[in-house]
Amino acid sequence: MKILVTGGAGFIGSHIVDQCIAAGHEVAIVDNLWDEGGGKLTNLNEQARFYRADITDEATLKHVFDDFKPELVSHQAAQHSVSVSTKKPKLDAQVNVLGLLNILENCTRVGVRKIVFASSGATYGTPARLPIDEEVIQRPESPYGITKMVTEHYLRYWHDANGLAYTALRYGNVYGPRQDPNGEAGVIAIFAKRFLAHEPIRIDWDGEQRKDYVFVKDVAHANLLALDHGDNDIFCIGTGRPVSVNEIYHELATITGYHPEITHAPKRPGDIYLAYFNSIKAENHLGWKPSISFEDGVRATVDFFRV
Ligand SMILES: NC(=O)c1ccc[n+]([C@@H]2O[C@H](COP(=O)([O-])OP(=O)(O)OC[C@H]3O[C@@H](n4cnc5c(N)ncnc54)[C@H](O)[C@@H]3O)[C@@H](O)[C@H]2O)c1
Repeated sequence: MKILVTGGAGFIGSHIVDQCIAAGHEVAIVDNLWDEGGGKLTNLNEQARFYRADITDEATLKHVFDDFKPELVSHQAAQHSVSVSTKKPKLDAQVNVLGLLNILENCTRVGVRKIVFASSGATYGTPARLPIDEEVIQRPESPYGITKMVTEHYLRYWHDANGLAYTALRYGNVYGPRQDPNGEAGVIAIFAKRFLAHEPIRIDWDGEQRKDYVFVKDVAHANLLALDHGDNDIFCIGTGRPVSVNEIYHELATITGYHPEITHAPKRPGDIYLAYFNSIKAENHLGWKPSISFEDGVRATVDFFRV
């Protein structure tokens, strides 16, 4: 099938592109290689057609859809930073809401069958109950979490109004090769790079805050399965295993044989102490289960940054 992956030069999107191509699909990427995002030319799969374009640019996006004529869209492009969203909420809404509407209008115009969307655990804010599943109330605590939640509502509305099928996947904390190690988020990539460079590590709060770290290839696989499963539904994509920042430090020390100096810093605004998912619905409806252990995933991430 012909699949358009928005944000396909980015961390998660590029793994989706790779898996779609490996599965025999014809893929095009739309990405503007935004300065503050993780998109890179080196992430591009050579077998994909690449449109360097901004999803908020109506005329250019119309050209992309007319030229490629996708049957499916995997929508990964976003202003993806909680921190940027708090400083620039209008930019966040511009890309995450208006960019989405631009894509939805084009999907309807050219007859796309389905859109798969990268939603987020950030839509829950501090979880009202654990483990987090699809029924837990969403109460986002950042503009980013709000625009991700709003997107889910637009997708439901757009399906009801215009018949475009959708699946929204609420990812946990995704990590793995190609994650930007220079951003403010992505603790495993940031730490891995510092361990390899023998630089000190900063641990915020008491380091016992625990999150559900899910390996990027497992997340990409969920996206692949969602191309023809789970229509008009929403799924949590996590491992169900919470891992603390201190455990990440120890795992990296075991893998690299290096124990960097630790400096401590206060809790970061908006950080959450405990979050992990129940992904049984994804297992039942998508046939998805995480397949890579935390230890193997961290090792693969270190290997990526080693070269
Ligand atoms: N990384 C995580 O832990 C995580 C967790 C939950 C959800 N998500 C979501 O997954 C998706 C992919 O995130 P990622 O971590 O791979 O980030 P990323 O920054 O590596 O990828 C996003 C891509 O979108 C592109 N982009 C940004 N604005 C654009 C615009 N206006 N027009 C065209 N392209 C644009 C960027 O250049 C980048 O290549 C995002 O929607 C993000 O919100 C990520």
